[in-house]
Amino acid sequence: MTTKILVTGGAGFIGSHYVRTLLGPEGPGDVAVTVLDKLTYAGNPANLDAVRGHAAFALVEGDICDADLVGRLMAEHDEVVHFAAESHVDRSIDGGAEFVRTNVVGTHTLIDAAHRSGIDVFVHVSTDEVYGSIDEGSWPETDPLAPNSPYSASKASSDLIALSYQRTHGLDVRVTRCSNNYGHHHFPEKVIPLFITNLLDGKRVPLYGDGGNVRDWLHIDDHVQGIELVRTKGRAGEIYNIGGGTELSNKELTQLLLDACGADWDSVEYVTDRKGHDRRYSVDCTKIGTELGYEPKKDFKVGLAETVQWYRDHRDWWEPLKDKAAL
Ligand SMILES: NC(=O)c1ccc[n+]([C@@H]2O[C@H](COP(=O)([O-])OP(=O)(O)OC[C@H]3O[C@@H](n4cnc5c(N)ncnc54)[C@H](O)[C@@H]3O)[C@@H](O)[C@H]2O)c1
Repeated sequence: MTTKILVTGGAGFIGSHYVRTLLGPEGPGDVAVTVLDKLTYAGNPANLDAVRGHAAFALVEGDICDADLVGRLMAEHDEVVHFAAESHVDRSIDGGAEFVRTNVVGTHTLIDAAHRSGIDVFVHVSTDEVYGSIDEGSWPETDPLAPNSPYSASKASSDLIALSYQRTHGLDVRVTRCSNNYGHHHFPEKVIPLFITNLLDGKRVPLYGDGGNVRDWLHIDDHVQGIELVRTKGRAGEIYNIGGGTELSNKELTQLLLDACGADWDSVEYVTDRKGHDRRYSVDCTKIGTELGYEPKKDFKVGLAETVQWYRDHRDWWEPLKDKAAL
């Protein structure tokens, strides 16, 4: 029997890769996918070109805060994978209202409609940033929430709302908390595509503070693998961390990007640090590994080289986005 999956935010970076994978040759084959996406600056219909003609695909342009639309769509679907969000920390520092609206109110609108429609499985895609910052060791899923930016606070709020529907109403909600993703189709305001595209254009790149902030990098293929394991084999009410196993300081990352793009440190400009900049993120992925068999497969250097090559080959994709966003 075909499982009808509603994917929110499916025109964005990670959501579109999830949809392309679900409907591609590696996908499960017995699914139909509807993308619900508002097509904000970060949502790009071109990200879905590969599946546009697929008989099991549909795109609905709309807002996850629109209760009538969401209610109608829920009634036609079996499962939900919820990616839609305002996702850029710097924008949330400039102003958090849209983050609260989409990430908190939008998630509530979806989860409430999912409960009323009797949705079978609701996967809520969250972030490791909800745990705050950690100097040593790694967070297990049981660590308390301690978000520091308006973005991560809005995501932490949405996690709690989603989980409350499991505890209160018995809705099958599964939460994933992943580390920093990288790969193709990544909007060029985020550090890796921003640095690559600047360097390919012979421009300088802005490095925050002392460059010592550490992130764990996760390739989108591995993230999608983790989400599929959670959707198909995860348990109701559980939280699963998903990581890539490659921790790098921003300085180390910059060196790799300079090497990959044939540039040197003359191309780097140290800029005032981001306000409240979390020093280090690190997720403990033991649970998803032992319970669901998750293991990140993509070697970071290989993944990064492929990503740089993709940006070299797809100027037509990113140049208009940079022009429009004045990046
Ligand atoms: N990119 C990362 O490194 C990362 C890391 C951890 C967690 N996450 C989470 O993964 C999810 C996807 O991230 P991404 O990087 O693909 O984000 P993205 O910004 O590339 O895409 C977000 C998508 O959501 C859509 N959207 C925004 N507001 C909407 C609304 N009100 N209604 C409907 N659609 C709306 C946008 O149009 C866009 O297509 C987010 O929930 C994010 O918090 C991302």
